[in-house]
Amino acid sequence: MKALEITPLEEKRLRVIIVEKEYSEPFWPKKFQNDTEKKMLSIFKPSIAFCSFLEKLVEEVAPDFATEELGERSIEDFKENAISKVFQKKNIPFFAVDIDENAKGYLLSSLEEKEELMDNILKRLEELPQEEGTYEKEYLTAYAQCLQEEIEEIKREIKFSVRESWIVMGILDNARKIEKDSVVCVHIASPEHVDGVKKLLESVDVEVEVVKPEKKLILPETEKTLTEFEDLLKSSKIQVKPVIRKSVEEQPYILFLLDTDERASPFDICMAYDAGFNIVVPYENVTPENVKKIVQDAIFSRDPKGIKRTCFFIGGKDMEKAEMVLEVVKKTMFSPFETNVIVDPGGAYTTAAAMVAKVEDALERHNLGDLSTKTCAIFGTGAVGRVAAILLARLGCNVMIASINPKRTDGEEYAQRLADLLREKYNVEVEGVFAPTPEKKLEMMQKADVIFCASRAGVQVITKDILEKVKLMKVIADVNAVPPLGVEGIKLNDDMREIAPGVFGIGALTIGRLKHKLEKEILREARINSRGAIYNYNYAIQLARRLLREKVLASKLAVTLTYPKQKKKS
Ligand SMILES: NC(=O)c1ccc[n+]([C@@H]2O[C@H](COP(=O)([O-])OP(=O)(O)OC[C@H]3O[C@@H](n4cnc5c(N)ncnc54)[C@H](OP(=O)(O)O)[C@@H]3O)[C@@H](O)[C@H]2O)c1
Repeated sequence: MKALEITPLEEKRLRVIIVEKEYSEPFWPKKFQNDTEKKMLSIFKPSIAFCSFLEKLVEEVAPDFATEELGERSIEDFKENAISKVFQKKNIPFFAVDIDENAKGYLLSSLEEKEELMDNILKRLEELPQEEGTYEKEYLTAYAQCLQEEIEEIKREIKFSVRESWIVMGILDNARKIEKDSVVCVHIASPEHVDGVKKLLESVDVEVEVVKPEKKLILPETEKTLTEFEDLLKSSKIQVKPVIRKSVEEQPYILFLLDTDERASPFDICMAYDAGFNIVVPYENVTPENVKKIVQDAIFSRDPKGIKRTCFFIGGKDMEKAEMVLEVVKKTMFSPFETNVIVDPGGAYTTAAAMVAKVEDALERHNLGDLSTKTCAIFGTGAVGRVAAILLARLGCNVMIASINPKRTDGEEYAQRLADLLREKYNVEVEGVFAPTPEKKLEMMQKADVIFCASRAGVQVITKDILEKVKLMKVIADVNAVPPLGVEGIKLNDDMREIAPGVFGIGALTIGRLKHKLEKEILREARINSRGAIYNYNYAIQLARRLLREKVLASKLAVTLTYPKQKKKS
């Protein structure tokens, strides 16, 4: 008999999209089914709507393989099922994952013994005289009650804790066989197993997304009301006790936060814990001069397995300082003492990457052309603006970056110096502009197709007056979430809303949500992939694009089936 063991995939990234089925796949053999379960058997089959939805989902996410619980079906029945046909049609390997047959048989036999005992007690109770209060009747009733509780508990244990562990092991085993670094699986789950399987997968660092298709039937005019199908399928919540063995015993994941600011950022600390680090050690006032000692002491204290579970995160508001610290960190490490390093000063790398990727995606979705062909104006010369300028220029855009700070007395020279710095250090050609007045800002905006507002939090860059004077169609992205927002009239959750005639806005929270997901995913990847990699803005933009592509859009997948009206009999 195969042993039940759940171990993480270590070097592989697995994403599982759990699709909730319309019904719970029967699991118990007939003799253990209750009357309702027996009566319902005939309607336990996937609908045409569900299969059409599944087809769309498969086209959208292109999984490497798919899985479903086997339940009481034979493998032949499983392969003949409509769900299996969907995957066959799309050439996606489709596997049954469920509790091992021998294990199930063994567990059921112990259940059978208890059920038999229960039958005997009930029979004896029936034979006893009707009058109440005899000791034997009292005793047998109490025994039957306890036994019933015990049977229910065993059934729960088999069906949920044990069975779900086998299902998860099946998914992981199939993922292991795929020779790719990043694997996507679609798992079809009974409603009652969605939560349990999700929790178990997440406990071994698998990314899980749950898709619950809602079915809506459009029927010819009729007085009849149908009971909502979904209501039948919802089952109570059950606590899961997974059997899990973690991979490398007891060595914790440690993140050293090397912050160049006076105070280490609580934002990055919280994100690191949420991404699964066991320990986060913040260092403040980190400089290129003092970082070498910290890195050496950290890496030399751990064995090769421990090194794989060690990570550095370079933060702090100053981008140039962070880059200098990164250079020292890289030089200090050597094989086999190489760990992953994330660099994201003030969250600027992930914010800029999210902003650029979001705009790129929005232009594509709205058939507005390729971002690389556009002229871009960036307002704000902090780290977010600078990184956006680097990413856009490398993409092939014409880029202007402007200081809009009216307090600057050296505006023109400052803008030129910045353009020189970006050319010399980052090898990109951008135009530096000083645009502190509405006239100057409008002049820049007229030349641009896309505008990025990355000025200081709480500073309004573009007023309604300026917006109204804009002639051609523009897309504006704003990262300032602190009122007043960067653009007058924009809303935090805007996603290509027309905020003025011909001007489409993308708000700070729309970008912020992607940024948040991005930073968390980078932290998670850096924690589990032990490649000695550098996670910077180049990595962040690739990942942001992937996250946007991978997002399962409910609106895209909606399927509506209209049932034809019956022809009138002549
Ligand atoms: N969603 C997120 O997670 C997230 C993360 C990071 C940043 N952000 C947002 O992104 C934006 C940019 O952040 P950042 O760190 O790159 O830059 P920042 O340091 O906050 O400031 C950007 C620029 O604002 C300009 N500025 C300062 N005072 C000004 C004033 N009174 N009037 C006009 N401009 C002024 C300065 O330009 P000059 O150099 O030209 O003087 C500065 O370079 C901020 O709104 C920030 O809140 C969001």
